[in-house]
Amino acid sequence: MKQLIQDAKALLKLNDTGVFIKPSTHQYPHIWNWDSAFIAIALSHYDLEQAKKEVRALLSGQWQSGLVPHILYPTGASDYFPTPDFWQTEALPTGPSFPTSGFTQPPILATAVKKILNHSADESFLKEVYPKLLAWHRWLYRARDPENTGLVSIIHPWEAGTDNSPRFDEPLANLKPVNVPEFKRRDKKHVSPDERPVEDHYVRFMYLIGFYRDLKWHDTAIYEQTPFLVQDVLFNTLLHQANQDLLSLAQQLGEPCTEIEDWLERTSSAFETLWDDEMGMYLDKDVRQNNLLKINSLQALSPIFAGIPSKANAERLVTEHLLNKQEFAPADDSAYCFPTIAKNTPYFEPRRYWRGPIWLNMNWIMYWGLKQYGYDELATKVKADSIKLAQKSDFVEYYDPRDGSACGAKGFSWSAALVTDMLLTD
Ligand code: DGY
Repeated sequence: MKQLIQDAKALLKLNDTGVFIKPSTHQYPHIWNWDSAFIAIALSHYDLEQAKKEVRALLSGQWQSGLVPHILYPTGASDYFPTPDFWQTEALPTGPSFPTSGFTQPPILATAVKKILNHSADESFLKEVYPKLLAWHRWLYRARDPENTGLVSIIHPWEAGTDNSPRFDEPLANLKPVNVPEFKRRDKKHVSPDERPVEDHYVRFMYLIGFYRDLKWHDTAIYEQTPFLVQDVLFNTLLHQANQDLLSLAQQLGEPCTEIEDWLERTSSAFETLWDDEMGMYLDKDVRQNNLLKINSLQALSPIFAGIPSKANAERLVTEHLLNKQEFAPADDSAYCFPTIAKNTPYFEPRRYWRGPIWLNMNWIMYWGLKQYGYDELATKVKADSIKLAQKSDFVEYYDPRDGSACGAKGFSWSAALVTDMLLTD
C-alpha cells in the first residue's frame, strides 16, 4: 500500500497550484467546495500546514452573508465553463471579494477542520476558522430553511454535487426553461461526452443560473421564487455530521452550543419525513411538488454516515440494498461496489457521471457509515474495492462498476485523497 499512498501524495502535489489544490489536473482547474474539504481530510494525515492552507483558500471566497460558494476563481479564468464572469456575483452587497459561483455545495468543511484538530491542537487556527464555519451553517439554515423544517433545501443540482443524478430528473423536467443565458459547454473537451451530462440537463442547469442572476442572488427572493427546491438526503446528511463536528469544535473553544444543539435535534427528527418505509430508504423531497422522489440511489442510503437511522432502519439499508446483488452489491468477483444508482433501475447508466458509476467519495461515506453501525466486514470490502479500483485504473473521477474501468476526468484529487484517508486512519 506504500506505493499507492505515494502515488496519491504525488497527484495532490501535481494538482497543487500554489494557492489551492485543483480537483483534477485538467477538467476542474478552480476551487470546488467539497473537493477542497476532502483534500484537506487527506492532508491532515501528513501535511497539516497544507491542510490548513486548503481550508483557508476555500474560506477566502466566503460571502459576507456566510455562504461558502461551490466554485471559487481566485486565480482567474481558464478553459473551464462557466467562466468567472458568467455568474455575475461580483459587486453584490453581500457577495464575495473575488469571482465565485452563486450557490454552495455539501458542507463537509467542519468535518475536515475537526480532523485537522484531531491531528494538532492548533487553537489559533480553530479560533480563526470557527466563526466562519458557524456563519456558513447559520446561512444554510437562514437562507435555505426559512420555514424551520429542520432540513435545508438546495436550489440547483450542482449544489448537491451529484449534478445529473436521476434523483433530479423529475424536478428538472418540471422546469420551463425560457431566456436561457447563452452558453458554450467546455466539459466535453477532456472527458468523453458519453460520460458527461446530456444537453437537456445542461440547458436546465444554465436556465437556473440565469434565473438566480436575474434575482441578483438575493437569498429570500430565490427561496420564494425558485422553481427548483429540493431537500437533498446526502446534503443534509453531510450537514448533520458537520454540525456534530462543529459542536465538538465549539466545546473545545468554550463557545455557546445551544444553537448547534438545536440544529442537531431538529435535523435528526426531520429526517423521519424523508424515510420511505415501502422502499426502505431515505428519499429526497421535491419541496415545490411536495412529494418524495422515488429513486433508488446510494445517496438514499448515506444517512448511516451521520448516525441518523435507527439500528433497525440501518439494517434495512444494508441488507435490502447494499448487500442486494440486483441493486448495489457486485454480481461477481470482476465487479465492484458501490454503483451510485441501483443497477436494476431503468435509469442506471454505468459510465455516465452521477447516473451509475462508482465514486470514491460515496464509497468513503458508506465506509465510515458502515463502520459506525458495526458492519465491519462490508466496510472492509468497500475499502478493498476502492483500493483495487485505484490500483487498476488510477485516481480518476469515477469508475465503471461492471469492470472497474476508468471514467471521467484523469488525475482526480479526491479519489487520491479519500483512499489515503481510508488507508491511514486505522
Ligand atoms: C461540472 O462542471 O460538471 C461541475 O460538477 C459543476 O460543479
